[in-house]
Amino acid sequence: QTIAIDTILADKGQHRHFMAKEIHEQPSVIARALGAWISEDRTRVSCAAEAIDWRAVPRLTIVACGTAHYASHVAKVWIERVARLPVEIEIASEFRYREPPLPRGGVTMVVSQSGETADSLAALRYAKAMGQTTLGLVNVTTSTIAREADVALPIHAGPEIGVASTKAFTAMVLCLSALAVMIARQRGVIDAAGERARLDLLSTVPRLMAETIALEPQIEALAREISEAGDALFLGRGLMYPLALEGALKLKEITYMHAEGYAAGEIKHGPIALVDETTPVIALAPHDALFDKLASNMREVIGRKGRVAMIGDADACAEMSGEVWRSVTLPRADPLVAPFLYAVAVQFIAYHAALAKGTDVDQPRNLAKSVTVE
Ligand code: AGP
Repeated sequence: QTIAIDTILADKGQHRHFMAKEIHEQPSVIARALGAWISEDRTRVSCAAEAIDWRAVPRLTIVACGTAHYASHVAKVWIERVARLPVEIEIASEFRYREPPLPRGGVTMVVSQSGETADSLAALRYAKAMGQTTLGLVNVTTSTIAREADVALPIHAGPEIGVASTKAFTAMVLCLSALAVMIARQRGVIDAAGERARLDLLSTVPRLMAETIALEPQIEALAREISEAGDALFLGRGLMYPLALEGALKLKEITYMHAEGYAAGEIKHGPIALVDETTPVIALAPHDALFDKLASNMREVIGRKGRVAMIGDADACAEMSGEVWRSVTLPRADPLVAPFLYAVAVQFIAYHAALAKGTDVDQPRNLAKSVTVE
């Protein structure tokens, strides 16, 4: 197997695996991406997508695969909530064959770490053929998707060697969050003060991610217990729903355990049948506007002898104290910041569960870093 030049040049530093290094370097990756996407005086978003007149855009379609698709879910929440622009998110391998009609004057953005994923590239070509303005949000700026998109938007994550994506995911979420703010300002939905306030919040991400990374020992202990189970469920609501999907994918990818991510409100519609006293149910539960709903979902699981492992902030964990099987307390965070912290938590859960199982963390079986064939 040819070793990519990035792998030769990259080094693990003091870490055992590239994945560990890439989890730990996220605060500096996010700081670098912030520096690239925000003006010098830190008052406004500055990126190549500003050239588009977003007031004239009827809809944004975001197409991706795997982890990049879950980053698109977070983008949908923010671009719809803050910029009031309708967003369709699509899995590339479905989009390219369904050949959906795309609105005249619409924008299609393809999100891809490698910029070479075959299905995502085919989706880009379909969107271009349909007359869409196309954006490519990529990590590899020399990639085919970057070259063929009308506008390339770099995420500045640096070479990502671990097959399980970590820093590219959070860098995508950062850039997509900044894009949402820029679109909102361009469409006149927020003013300069509103933009600055959100950028000030995003500027706290590196520090709060570092604080979350410091919780690694607590998360490791939980991960080791989770690794003894056969399956795992991840639950989340709102912004935590895509994080539940991402957490399940991370765990699947590198431990080979069966894991599913669900919108917590969905469990009554079937998945709760999976709950028994052996399956850990990991609830991503910041004390946000949806917490009360999620708390009742956790209690539904507990009522059926399910083992709820709660990842939440201090208020949330205090409210569920004595009821849940395990809990890890993360820093309190504004909803704009929370996805970054809960991403670190689910990355560590997968990483330490894989260490406990002895699987190949950086090169898990059956997987490739970039799926350049269908
Ligand atoms: C993520 O951990 C996986 N390695 C995989 O789902 C990946 O996100 C997907 O293959 C898309 O890759 P891309 O971002 O390079 O297009």
